[in-house]
Amino acid sequence: MERTTLITGASGFLGAHVVAAAVARSQAEGTLAEPLGPLVVGQCRGSALLAPRFCSPREAAQWIEADLLSDAGGLLERVRPTEIVHCAALSRAAACEADPPGANALNAEVPAQLAAWAQEHGARFIHVSTDQVFGAEDAPDGGFDEDSSPGPVSEYGRSKLAGERAVLEAMPSATVARLPLLYGNSAGRGLGASDSILEQVERGERPRLFVDEWRTPLEVSCAGAALVELLDFDAPGVVHLAGPDRVSRHRFGVAVLQSMGLSRDEAEAELVPTHQAELDAGAPRPRDVSLNASRALAALASDLPGVSVGLARVH
Ligand SMILES: NC(=O)c1ccc[n+]([C@@H]2O[C@H](COP(=O)([O-])OP(=O)(O)OC[C@H]3O[C@@H](n4cnc5c(N)ncnc54)[C@H](OP(=O)(O)O)[C@@H]3O)[C@@H](O)[C@H]2O)c1
Repeated sequence: MERTTLITGASGFLGAHVVAAAVARSQAEGTLAEPLGPLVVGQCRGSALLAPRFCSPREAAQWIEADLLSDAGGLLERVRPTEIVHCAALSRAAACEADPPGANALNAEVPAQLAAWAQEHGARFIHVSTDQVFGAEDAPDGGFDEDSSPGPVSEYGRSKLAGERAVLEAMPSATVARLPLLYGNSAGRGLGASDSILEQVERGERPRLFVDEWRTPLEVSCAGAALVELLDFDAPGVVHLAGPDRVSRHRFGVAVLQSMGLSRDEAEAELVPTHQAELDAGAPRPRDVSLNASRALAALASDLPGVSVGLARVH
């Protein structure tokens, strides 16, 4: 059977890396008898010009434009994927807070629609979710594991949790992969936790970073590789993919600048240590949504490195 891997949100920060990882897997799976592994198709809402930067060669993936709010069904019928990694989302917390119905439509209703199609057509389905389904309570020592009870504090977290539940109801064999704060190469777009800091510093600003907000960050290309590896797993239900280090946003910012060659003192001088209560971020922010990824680590070959190793790979 011809295999086709559809990655939604392929123009996004994570999606572009998932496409690159899927292309690498497809090329690695090629044999003399069947030179091509799965066809990789990246869905973009608008221009896909930036997304292919991580693909080598660019033409190794196909690109298709579609708005998932109006044309998810049409996209699926055009592509007829045998496997899907669903990355597209309304991912900015402030935008979700300003428009809860819009957040629910993209983050819950669309995933449910895709999962129902996958269930009906026997396609593998990986749904990308977030650590922000937690937050009502701080993470325990070692982080939240897959059995921990979610409790979001924002519309973003609530809509993503609704999406998880809708996906698993429509397709119990789907995998819901919860990711932490992602950092790494955004192709000069200032996306993600590290490039956003670097962009601000380059503009001459001093980023305000929280000293009382903790995450277990993961380098984005490693997240992409792990998601693609999950395609070959029979892994129904929730899985946590995260790095091993629990760091504050401020400590993470210092590490980002140190990875660019600054001393610790120089890095700290570029940043403004800030408490959550001092800054209105447009949405309630959880304090500590650290994830425990030990189950994934035990099962996957993909690396889920800590902050210093991950940053060293990027810079
Ligand atoms: N970044 C993180 O730190 C992080 C952490 C945990 C979980 N996640 C999850 O990872 C996934 C990807 O996040 P990201 O950071 O890559 O977000 P992103 O950079 O904002 O990308 C979101 C993608 O969704 C697409 N999209 C938005 N609305 C759409 C619509 N109506 N139809 C079709 N496509 C649409 C965007 O297309 P346009 O380019 O056209 O806007 C973009 O490709 C999300 O599920 C998010 O919840 C991210």
